[in-house]
Amino acid sequence: MLSFTPSLSPNSTAFALFVNEKYAYRDTRGILTKDIENKINLFIKNLKAKNHKEEVSSFDLSEKKKCFIIMVKNKYENSYFEELGGSFFTNIKNFKTINSIDIYADSLVENSDKLSKLFSEFIFGFELKSYTFNKYKTLNKEKINKKINYKIISKYKKNIENNYKYYHAIKEGVFLTRDLVSEPPNVLNPETYVKEIKKLSKLGIKIRTYNEKELKKLGLNALLGVGLGSANESYLVTLEWNGKKGSKQKPLAFVGKGVCFDTGGISLKPARFMEEMKYDMAGSAVVVGLLKSLALRKAKINAVGIVGLVENMPGGKAQRPGDIVKSFSGKTIEVLNTDAEGRLVLADALTFTEKKYNPKFIIDLATLTGAIIVSLGEEYAGLFSNNDQLSNSIFKASNNVNEKVWRLPLHKNYDKLINSTIADVQNINYAGGAGSITAAQFLQRFIINKTPWAHLDIAGMAFSKKAANLNPGGATGFGVRLLNNLIKEYHE
Ligand code: BES
Ligand code: ZN
Ligand code: ZN
Repeated sequence: MLSFTPSLSPNSTAFALFVNEKYAYRDTRGILTKDIENKINLFIKNLKAKNHKEEVSSFDLSEKKKCFIIMVKNKYENSYFEELGGSFFTNIKNFKTINSIDIYADSLVENSDKLSKLFSEFIFGFELKSYTFNKYKTLNKEKINKKINYKIISKYKKNIENNYKYYHAIKEGVFLTRDLVSEPPNVLNPETYVKEIKKLSKLGIKIRTYNEKELKKLGLNALLGVGLGSANESYLVTLEWNGKKGSKQKPLAFVGKGVCFDTGGISLKPARFMEEMKYDMAGSAVVVGLLKSLALRKAKINAVGIVGLVENMPGGKAQRPGDIVKSFSGKTIEVLNTDAEGRLVLADALTFTEKKYNPKFIIDLATLTGAIIVSLGEEYAGLFSNNDQLSNSIFKASNNVNEKVWRLPLHKNYDKLINSTIADVQNINYAGGAGSITAAQFLQRFIINKTPWAHLDIAGMAFSKKAANLNPGGATGFGVRLLNNLIKEYHE
């Protein structure tokens, strides 16, 4: 997992050490020879003279080795060390000669427990930022694939390894989510997606797949309607993690929208940016990534993931605007716009989850509305809930890992906007306005037994053309860290 070295490796291309805001560092292990120490001190003296206060600065220790000085603030907030790790990666990535680095952890802080925790966060951020998705590149592969191998110098090897275990599990979950979201839609369709999910059974996750025939028999017609135009079969998959065996505790349930491609169906989307709709399965990918990390870190809880996997295509067999479907709940839905398909998939998945698992709570994740991007942009996911306690815990858990959410209202008065004249409910609001709220209000109608429920609209968060502190741009994996933290802080 992590690799360590007792002293500076002769062949490594770089060396890094932490200093405090006054540029003071500690060398409790005598790692720095007199010669190196002199060079560092001279460099620091120059920095001080120029009154430089940069987070990361560097100089040539020798012809073949660079030295990086990472400045650590005295006062910091949550996720500071993760972001420091991320920005450190960005910094060294730009040096063409650097492919291996020794990082001197013990220069960070004095207390060994604190050091192990903070350093694990630093490495976690470094790893998250170093993610790449380049399996389809055939040209310049070495250049793009450039991986920076790091070795850790520390006398607290065991302590750091123990601390990092948790972060390793989360990282694997985040990377799986990013991989799934990044795959092109001709590769990841409901059929191949099921195969990917099944691979998780080797971690002890119990996986059950429901195919079209079974879903039809059960009556999940709202979900099935979305897939009618596709040559690929639709599926519902359940992933059960029983980390608290023998306990009678109700499971925690996580439901994800898995529209592998959203053309809009007969209510076809415009061509420009339609390719982005490959990430309309991101909600489901977060659920799958979350379950992977729960299994890897052997979380002591019972959790279940439920994903509805479909492809929304036009075609001779496709659902039409005006069609009425009978959902799994028994309620009838008038499909006025086939592009408002996520809520149809989730409606059945939510009722199914409630009926089959009677969970403690349900949290669903979906790239549900373009309107949430208008409201919150790429900074906050929309949060909707029928339960203040659940909502508050999600809000707090999200702040701690800097995956931010903002609560928007649900209210019965919005119901009139989605009451259908000839069915129980219609799938869009023709009066206009409150696009994300009416979508959430629609979902709420399919929570039949008043189960505490929260809906995260992640349309603005799942994918970003721009890089951010902890991702290189592209699929973000937003939600995996948030939900892991929610479980760790409130339910384990
Ligand atoms: N998958 C889209 C929402 C979306 C838009 C996600 C942009 C990510 C980026 C969803 O299925 C959709 O098409 N929603 C419509 C709803 C409308 C027809 C009521 C929308 O937001 O325009
Ligand atoms: Zn759509
Ligand atoms: Zn969609």
